[in-house]
Amino acid sequence: MSNLPTQHQRVLSGMRPTGRLHLGHYHGVLKNWVNLQHEYECFFFAADWHALTTHYEDPSMIESSTWEMVIDWLAAGISPGAAKIFIQSKVPEHAELHTLLSMITPLGWLERVPTYKDQQEKLKEMDLATYGFLGYPLLQSADILIYKAGLVPVGEDQVAHVELTREVARRFNHLYGREIGFEQKAEQAVAKMGKKNARMFMDCRKKFQEEGVQNALDMAKALLDSQQNISIGDKERLYGYLEGSGKIILPEPKAMLTPASKMPGLDGQKMSKSYGNTIALRDSPDEVTRKIRTMPTDPARVRRNDPGDPAKCPVWQFHRIYSSLETQEWAQVGCRSAGIGCVDCKQPVIDAVLAELKPIQLRAREYEEDLSTVKAIVANGNEAARDEARDTLEEVRKAMGIAYL
Ligand code: TRP
Ligand code: SF4
Repeated sequence: MSNLPTQHQRVLSGMRPTGRLHLGHYHGVLKNWVNLQHEYECFFFAADWHALTTHYEDPSMIESSTWEMVIDWLAAGISPGAAKIFIQSKVPEHAELHTLLSMITPLGWLERVPTYKDQQEKLKEMDLATYGFLGYPLLQSADILIYKAGLVPVGEDQVAHVELTREVARRFNHLYGREIGFEQKAEQAVAKMGKKNARMFMDCRKKFQEEGVQNALDMAKALLDSQQNISIGDKERLYGYLEGSGKIILPEPKAMLTPASKMPGLDGQKMSKSYGNTIALRDSPDEVTRKIRTMPTDPARVRRNDPGDPAKCPVWQFHRIYSSLETQEWAQVGCRSAGIGCVDCKQPVIDAVLAELKPIQLRAREYEEDLSTVKAIVANGNEAARDEARDTLEEVRKAMGIAYL
């Protein structure tokens, strides 16, 4: 459970700048972001510091990759009116929070994050025995907590990082959530709910704290969520008051698993730049056509009249994403009976991919030709994000006793 009421839930997600994006990014992440931006307050950023943790020896591509990636976000339909789009390093507050959180984060928590050892193994050619690389997931925690994000849409591989973030937030709240006069402030906030609600709230709190009735806690939270005239600060205080902890300064986020729409690559493996099996969002129609025409198919279909099995063919995986049920049926029957050839079978896929990419490419072209607009969008996003980040940081500094007011 997140500690914040749903109407205040923010969505935050970041992507390492890897240059131009491909259909795997689009189906796996971007489409989801586009949907979320209409339901939640969204923050999407280019994680350029995260890119540096692995590419510090050759950072020459980071900046151009960031712009290319942002162009693809915009082209895919991320709207600067609905979401804040920004660059991590342009909000240096992330770094300060990272430093502050590093004070309370046991080394063992970082060493145990599965990606730490996995990535070191996988990227053997890079020296990842660095301080920055070990701290990677904690930097991610700072990214999330600085916006008090409730929901973090990520892939499976990132869930452990969100888990770490929850633990760090819990530890932070435990250590620093005990503001002076907490009980008194909480009681004043309860009184603002009106007599009847206040009594109900206190009864529920007692039931939960003395008898451990979970239901009572949920009821009190729901009651709290429904209050119009209680500030967010007081709500956070009262969440802590309910559960018997201090004030919750950094709410624990939840990972939001991207609905697994696995976009296979041209060869049937996961689509990934490192496998060289991608269709980029900005590949020209000729390029897309050529790539699909040369896709491998069921090796059993050597000659046109050899029957095949779609289950053994990556083109079929594309049909499952792109084709209507009728077309799928046509491909199945035609393949198994050798009624159609692979060239025939691929044509509807080519058409569908081109149709999907067309509006994206039109928009991308506009942004490519007007980079100053892209930069202005990001500059706005940077400022808007910074405003939020500054507020959280101020609270964090106060809680840790270094506000110097
Ligand atoms: N580590 C993420 C990845 O490699 C990118 C990232 C950085 C991120 N900070 C984040 C994702 C905060 C979500 C929230 O994909
Ligand atoms: Fe693949 Fe279609 Fe050829 Fe069958 S007919 S092998 S599904 S491309």
